[in-house]
Amino acid sequence: MNTEIVCVVGARPNFMKIAPIMAAFVKYGINAKLVHTGQHYDPSMSDSFFDQLGIPRPDVNLEVGSASHAVQTADIMRAFEPVLDVEHPRAVLVVGDVNSTIACALVAAKKGIKVIHVEAGLRSFDRGMPEEINRVLTDQISDLLFTTERAALKNLEHEGIAAERVHFVGNVMIDTLRAHLERAIPAAKTLAGLPERGYAVVTLHRPSNVDNADTFRALLETLNQIAEKLDVVFPIHPRTRATAERFGLAELLAQPGMRLLPPQGYLEMLGLTRDAAVVLTDSGGLQEETTALGVPCITLRENTERPITLSEGTNTLTGPHPKKILQCLADIMANGGKRGRIPEYWDGQAAERIADSLRAWLDTP
Ligand code: UD1
Repeated sequence: MNTEIVCVVGARPNFMKIAPIMAAFVKYGINAKLVHTGQHYDPSMSDSFFDQLGIPRPDVNLEVGSASHAVQTADIMRAFEPVLDVEHPRAVLVVGDVNSTIACALVAAKKGIKVIHVEAGLRSFDRGMPEEINRVLTDQISDLLFTTERAALKNLEHEGIAAERVHFVGNVMIDTLRAHLERAIPAAKTLAGLPERGYAVVTLHRPSNVDNADTFRALLETLNQIAEKLDVVFPIHPRTRATAERFGLAELLAQPGMRLLPPQGYLEMLGLTRDAAVVLTDSGGLQEETTALGVPCITLRENTERPITLSEGTNTLTGPHPKKILQCLADIMANGGKRGRIPEYWDGQAAERIADSLRAWLDTP
């Protein structure tokens, strides 16, 4: 049977998005192949997600690995083109905003193959963020754009993208969260002695926070201050650990109350997040997951491309500023933080909506 859609994943945040899409494609009889670019390759950043989320093994792994943005993007493009020459799909589907997303979308568009972008239209309006460049460019060359929140359509309209190409379907990452919540590994199993709702979870990896020694130091000192009162559980991204060592900040990771962990599997991370008093993060996905779980989230960034987590969810932006972070945390500890509600279409059915719409699209000659 001919391949109808080539799906692409590359980095950790892609895996939870592709899992429900691949499952829905089987249900709707869409013949798809899965390509892993190899942007993330450590077992803890990649394989464990395939195992826990039941994602089919990739049909092809391009094994590109880490490099500068330009080299990594170029390597993915070079390796991906021959796959399309063999498969001749009707379309290439990309998710999210990582380098693998733009690289594969660009190869497909140049070959006249339709591009489908899942999680389109999100904008931080901060071009200093590598992901923002990836988002804007991927959307410009996409033929079908699936969005997670209504603000995305406005952003796309501003950029001249025709509304009939855009479909508001909800959030596939939240499909995965809902499907796996019951299997989430309780926090106390991941780290013995963790009191439920009595600890903070931290993730930190954005260049804007960890690539500047002063910003990074101030953030770690703030976390040390928090750790005097509340256990700080910190599953640390490889680039964050390496940068801390390079800047001579490793000591700040070893202070009392700082509970460092290697990158966690999906079910472990879901349990840690669900049972936490608060999450402090610069991740995009965690802002949405905390909103879906009703857990307070402090986002250590000046902006977010996911504004619904602020207006309807549990998210607050503090940037990397110690005073703001500590004030926000004090408010959360005093009154429980924003209550929040579940955004429209974050109901576990987003991938079904995508598959339903693509089945009809593929059946139209
Ligand atoms: C990438 C995404 C980012 C996403 C993040 C989630 C881009 C531009 N960035 O950032 O949007 O939030 O993934 O993790 O695509 N490394 C390892 N093992 C791995 C992968 C990476 O040790 O399996 C280390 C390497 O030192 C590498 C560094 O992490 O150089 C950065 O990896 P890279 O994929 O370039 O970017 P991330 O910071 O992970």
